[in-house]
Amino acid sequence: MSDIDDIRARCSRLGFGCASYWAKTVFPRQRAIGLVHDAVELGITVFDTGPMYAAGEAERRLGAALGAHRRDPLVIMSKAGEPASAHAPKDFSPAAIEHSARASLGRLGIEHLDVLWLHGCPRSEWNDGLRRGLEQLKSLGLARLVGLNTFDADDIAAAIDEPMFDALMFDINLLRPENAMAAERAAARGKLVFSAAALARAPWNRHWWGIRAPSDVWYWLRANAVREKSVRVGEGGAAKPESAAHALTWVLDQAAVTCALVNTTRHAHLRENVACMRAQVRGSD
Ligand SMILES: NC(=O)c1ccc[n+]([C@@H]2O[C@H](COP(=O)([O-])OP(=O)(O)OC[C@H]3O[C@@H](n4cnc5c(N)ncnc54)[C@H](OP(=O)(O)O)[C@@H]3O)[C@@H](O)[C@H]2O)c1
Repeated sequence: MSDIDDIRARCSRLGFGCASYWAKTVFPRQRAIGLVHDAVELGITVFDTGPMYAAGEAERRLGAALGAHRRDPLVIMSKAGEPASAHAPKDFSPAAIEHSARASLGRLGIEHLDVLWLHGCPRSEWNDGLRRGLEQLKSLGLARLVGLNTFDADDIAAAIDEPMFDALMFDINLLRPENAMAAERAAARGKLVFSAAALARAPWNRHWWGIRAPSDVWYWLRANAVREKSVRVGEGGAAKPESAAHALTWVLDQAAVTCALVNTTRHAHLRENVACMRAQVRGSD
């Protein structure tokens, strides 16, 4: 079985995003770890993180959580290209990618990544040196697959035909329904497809009266910060996400999407999201 087929077979349709408020030191470490343990118990096998989330703390938290679990069935993914320090520039040279991957493995306490994502690597950087560097990374056993994580429409279109990428991660969600077609084209080329921002930036969190915890304030500010940049409802067929279940069910209904990545700081929300995953799997049987 090829590495792509093996990892596809191990992916749950819902993945846990180890980023955002979950990763921040203001969110208690033991609660973050407890959510990962709960996710594993509930059947989530995919965990996505990166060195730039809370300057490496996201990877350290995921690593601490994984210590308690058998790693074999899990799909662990991290990123390279965007360094842990917000002030350092992006670097997609093969040496920087290898250095970043080794540092991620150290923080995670594991020996290889199932997928290493190039985070926002533009087409201008795709050259034979990078292609050789990524092959070398795989032959060293540091990563089994390499993918591109980008929200740039032209880069997504080009990456579908780029052999160095085994997987693509982009914003396939209710606000970007046109990206479902890109997902189908990528899947038809044999690539794994991951939906980032599957909850369409949780726009139902834009009401101040829903604030119950510090995390709600953080997400409320983020939701409002991205509001102007967001697609307008109705534009290109975009529909207003009414709830997490509405947004998530839409993504899970896209057969081309291997896995939808969602982050949460609440066990109750994790259980609701897993219920969506189970309902979708039952419906498609
Ligand atoms: N967003 C991006 O730009 C981006 C880029 C690259 C990769 N990714 C990947 O995608 C993952 C997810 O993106 P994200 O971290 O930006 O978070 P997200 O999943 O888009 O949004 C998290 C928000 O949704 C809320 N939520 C989750 N489940 C809910 C439920 N059942 N009911 C109500 N609210 C719910 C959370 O609140 P509670 O905490 O209260 O549940 C939080 O406010 C990342 O962790 C990362 O792995 C994202």
